Amino acid sequence: MNLAVVILAAGQGTRMKSKIPKVNHPVAGKPMVCHVYDEAARLKPAGLTVVISPGSDAVKECLRDNVNYAIQKEQLGTAHALQTAEPFLKGFKGNVLVLYGDTPLIEADTLGELIDFHEKTEAVATIATAILEDPTGYGRIIRSNQQIAKIVEEKDTDPEQKKIKEINSGMYCFKAEVLFEKLKQVQPHNKQVEYYLTDVVSMLVARDALVETFEVPADEILGVNSRQELAQANLLIYQRTIAKWMDNSVTVVDPLNTYIEKDVQIGQDTVIQPQTMLKSNTVIGKNCNIGPGSIIKDSKIGNGSQVFLSVIDRATVGADCNIGPYSHLRPDTVLKDRVKVGSFSEVKNSRIAAGSRVPHLSYIGDTDIEEQVNVGAGTITCNYDGDRKHKTIIKKGAFIGSDTMLVAPVTVGENAFTGAGSVITKDVPNDALAIERSEQKNIKDYSKKK
Ligand code: UD1
Ligand code: CA
Repeated sequence: MNLAVVILAAGQGTRMKSKIPKVNHPVAGKPMVCHVYDEAARLKPAGLTVVISPGSDAVKECLRDNVNYAIQKEQLGTAHALQTAEPFLKGFKGNVLVLYGDTPLIEADTLGELIDFHEKTEAVATIATAILEDPTGYGRIIRSNQQIAKIVEEKDTDPEQKKIKEINSGMYCFKAEVLFEKLKQVQPHNKQVEYYLTDVVSMLVARDALVETFEVPADEILGVNSRQELAQANLLIYQRTIAKWMDNSVTVVDPLNTYIEKDVQIGQDTVIQPQTMLKSNTVIGKNCNIGPGSIIKDSKIGNGSQVFLSVIDRATVGADCNIGPYSHLRPDTVLKDRVKVGSFSEVKNSRIAAGSRVPHLSYIGDTDIEEQVNVGAGTITCNYDGDRKHKTIIKKGAFIGSDTMLVAPVTVGENAFTGAGSVITKDVPNDALAIERSEQKNIKDYSKKK
């Protein structure tokens, strides 16, 4: 069956009290609308349309190709928002899955079940519902002889209706042909004077069209309208992702103080220590020990590596490496196996080959370090002349003395040495010792004379 998805994401989100469009607020590392989009995209719909407000281009950043954008100039309600998507669905025959951009916890599998149910029953519309202990804020499902009769928004409920725990999740499956014809007839006759998409239900029921409900898990439907709910959504997504990894062979020492985003991958028997954030498309190998206190974003960590109190951003770390404490690996850094980057060392756009070490207090930028190199404490690659960046090459087996300044462009040859405290401005030949410092003078009995 043909499927089209429409995500409504143009609302102002007044209750957030923010200048940023509500659906752009991040939940577990990405704008909440992107969670909805990612799950919907997994269904491989024939078309995907996102309804946005004018000027909310930031929404587009996280959404990939093949998305239509419908612009809703004025936020007159959910029915009106859906109508703005109609031009993109001209002539479309099939099911339209309608989702709200502020429900980031929904999962593709659940949406798939909703669609299957909708097709099986041949309903004209299927409303995804949930039973909530505290239904405050949600539209209530009003039934008559078991069948759904209408949806009443919280603000329009009477005291009896307010007690109903069955709510509208804001996810629906419609037969396209019927949907747009009914939308045109919606009137803003309610407390908020808005065009409610939910009114389509009673309109269809009045025409004896089959409207079904499909109950979905309560923990997937949270609608984020306030910053309190934003925090709740964050917590729920992190906890769900962590639970998945724990069921899947990863040890998480303190789940409440660990933050793993949805697209991260982690290998078997890796241990994640407290106060650690694993972000974006990070891939962690097997048998690693990550944290405490580490942030790893869009990076790859090889099997058996340790990362302790460190920040790693868009870098690749080989197997059995030892990073930290207090190391900073910046974009385009590639460490091969068994590399050590230690306390207060920063590495940027550099390659460090197997077995080499940068153990203390260094800055390594735009550098190639070959195998079995030891970089002494306090070594700095002076890669920037104020105008351009230059490259440093340190060849196999070289020994860089403590506090060496390597003024790039410069090459230190194989098995060469630099003397501690030297400012190296010229290439060092293989096997040579480069030493650049004035000779030490000892002034005899200085303190006595003073
Ligand atoms: C809506 C439902 C309610 C349901 C709840 C579930 C309606 C009338 N009510 O209420 O029954 O229980 O969601 O979370 O649909 N939007 C637009 N343009 C607009 C208005 C809204 O694009 O003019 C978008 C918003 O960005 C949001 C979504 O539609 O993503 C829902 O709007 P919102 O105002 O949050 O509706 P609720 O009051 O939460
Ligand atoms: Ca909402």
